[in-house]
Amino acid sequence: MTISDAEFRQLREFIHAHTGIALSEHKKALVCSRLSKRLRHHGLPRYSDYYVLLVENDPEGMELMAMINAITTNKTDFFREPHHFRFLAEQVFPAYKQNPHRERPLRMWSAAASTGEEAYSLAMTAREAMPSFNEQDIRILATDIDTDVLSRAASGIYTRAQASQIPEALLRRYFLKGQDGHAGEVMAKPLLKSLVHFHWLNLLEDPWPMQEKFDVIFCRNVLIYFDKPTQQKLFQRLAGVLRKDGYLMLGHSEAMHGWDNIFKPAGYSIYQCRGKKIT
Ligand SMILES: C[S@@+](CC[C@H](N)C(=O)[O-])C[C@H]1O[C@@H](n2cnc3c(N)ncnc32)[C@H](O)[C@@H]1O
Repeated sequence: MTISDAEFRQLREFIHAHTGIALSEHKKALVCSRLSKRLRHHGLPRYSDYYVLLVENDPEGMELMAMINAITTNKTDFFREPHHFRFLAEQVFPAYKQNPHRERPLRMWSAAASTGEEAYSLAMTAREAMPSFNEQDIRILATDIDTDVLSRAASGIYTRAQASQIPEALLRRYFLKGQDGHAGEVMAKPLLKSLVHFHWLNLLEDPWPMQEKFDVIFCRNVLIYFDKPTQQKLFQRLAGVLRKDGYLMLGHSEAMHGWDNIFKPAGYSIYQCRGKKIT
């Protein structure tokens, strides 16, 4: 199946409008291959037919969801970019634990959670630093636009290979080994799962439904898929849901420029919210 320039442009605009994902010309082959299974699923010969299906014959948004699930890139790992977790373990959590005026619970958000490795890594790091804290004390919201990855995340089940970045002691403490039909897999223990709440959320949605502010936000390796105006808007909105002195972690290639009045750099791809009112 091939995609014409006109078909690519149509779909590219549609995807951008619904997800914020900006696809340059050289992503044509990628779009073509990721969406080809949707065309086959519906028995459609051309990408223009698929576009018509999305725009005119998808009142419930079911195909939109399937299209989003097919188009997103979900690469992630446990303790990916480990300096963020070290920073939390060595600086943020000890200070939080000792602060008599701390707001409770400690609230964290994994804003593009994919299959959940980032959120569970956050949960393990927090529990290791504050072993007496339970789900009343630590709340981790983990959201993504892709419903497939979210259901895998909520299951808490990973192959041994996927879990290979979890230190052995943590693996023993926080995961069960699969048996019989699940040999070769591990599953997050109920304690770990109780700290993390998975929900569907499109970062473009405005306003976000969260009522309370966060101490820590991980918004990593998702802004790279967005264009500059979308990124700038998100920086501002993320500042709006961070507590004063809260931290925002970005992916290693997502540096923030021009927001010095709202965020101050606190480490490599770590930004601390100054807590100024945003206008
Ligand atoms: C590469 S993964 C990053 C996972 C994790 N944060 C990490 O750094 O390992 C990017 C995730 O962003 C999600 N995503 C893309 N556009 C989104 C949007 N508009 N709203 C919410 N999530 C989105 C994708 O579904 C995907 O799971």
